[in-house]
Amino acid sequence: MIHLESRIKKCWDLTVLVVTIGTALVIPFSVVFKNTGEPVPILLTFLSTIVFIVDMFVSFNTSFIYQGKNIEDKREVARRYLRGWFTIDLIAALPLGIILTFLLTPEGSAVHLVRVLALIKLFHVGKTMQRIGGTNVNPAILRLSLLVFWILLAAHVASCGWIFLNETPVGTQNYERYIRAFYWTITTITTIGYGDITPEGPRQTLYVIFIEILGAGMYGLVIGNIANLIANIDVAKTQYKEKLDKINTFLKYRNIPVDQQRKINDYYNYLWESRRGYDESSVLADLPGPLKQSVLLFLNKEIIEKVPIFEAAGEDLIKDIIVNMEPVVFTPGDYIVRAGEVGFDMYFISRGRVDVMSADETARYATLTAGQFFGEIALLLSMPRTATIKATEYCDLYRLDKETFDGILTRYPDFMKNIQATADARRAEIDARTQAAKKTKQKD
Ligand code: CMP
Repeated sequence: MIHLESRIKKCWDLTVLVVTIGTALVIPFSVVFKNTGEPVPILLTFLSTIVFIVDMFVSFNTSFIYQGKNIEDKREVARRYLRGWFTIDLIAALPLGIILTFLLTPEGSAVHLVRVLALIKLFHVGKTMQRIGGTNVNPAILRLSLLVFWILLAAHVASCGWIFLNETPVGTQNYERYIRAFYWTITTITTIGYGDITPEGPRQTLYVIFIEILGAGMYGLVIGNIANLIANIDVAKTQYKEKLDKINTFLKYRNIPVDQQRKINDYYNYLWESRRGYDESSVLADLPGPLKQSVLLFLNKEIIEKVPIFEAAGEDLIKDIIVNMEPVVFTPGDYIVRAGEVGFDMYFISRGRVDVMSADETARYATLTAGQFFGEIALLLSMPRTATIKATEYCDLYRLDKETFDGILTRYPDFMKNIQATADARRAEIDARTQAAKKTKQKD
């Protein structure tokens, strides 16, 4: 069994795709120019028939993914294939071209039109391109490429149809006729219609009417879709810009001071640079618990690696903490904690720098950076905050609320000993500094 997502299957899909597109280009061309007996069309006819037959064999031997499981059971695979693409693949693989070549049917006979049946394989193109691109290709870019591909192919087939209905002017080369026909198709489907090439006789007129109706519909489809597809190439950026425009309009409308407007814009810039404007918690909100947990574990790997006290912590504890931590951002100059207030959370620093200061901000006790934590004393000892903490640059923090903290305290006493030790040392330092400050005051 070949795995659906294996490299070999991708290579094979790419081969089938190239052969399919090549066939789609060459068959209509060679049928209208009546050169089906020349080496290139013959070679392509043989090649495509063989590749399409082998492709059916490959499909019978390729696993499929169902509800996240890779199904390799031969019967299941066959049943699924027979119910799905089998008929289309079978029609495309019929050796009609080979039979016609051997029967030496006179070139130019309308029988050769039956070869166009192989184009049915084109139904695969979208799915195959998606599979080959996998998750690496932006879906909007893929849709845009497919749209362009279908339009060009339709124009190619329409041009061949036009050639088919027109008599050969003596001495004109095939490529000249094709270019002229392609020019006619493009001016018609884009509704430009210069009118320099006009139909003669009822057959051509009917054909022109058909292409005009088809072209007008296609043109509408393209115009309707293109703006949307381009906007979706970078959904995050489009949404971010819209949000920023809306906020800036509001700020101007309510006459918010210019420096505050600048600060708000700065903040959004930071959000864009650090996380492309995504609010991770709301993006993951709809995921079921265990899946959300594993994504969070992956996303928060960085903070777990950065915080030394997590190093010795077990997997269960880390999961408990990760799921309950909330990412928060503070801008330079923000007060995160104020001395004397009641505390309900503690924080881990993922990025940025904060100053730990006395209540009157005259003394700076410490500067904390990525990997350090603060706010644990108020939670551990149920006492007011012992210091004021101010962000000196943009800070990405993870907030842990008191309830989760208390739960962890009882479930993982060893881990808490580490936090307790840091808290004791910090308190001792604050006490020592306060005593020293008192003494200097008394002396004065
Ligand atoms: P908490 O008292 O809850 O709020 C203020 C926080 O500042 C405190 O918890 C500690 O986490 C932190 N803190 C206090 N003193 C120091 C210090 N000397 N060095 C580093 N951090 C401190």
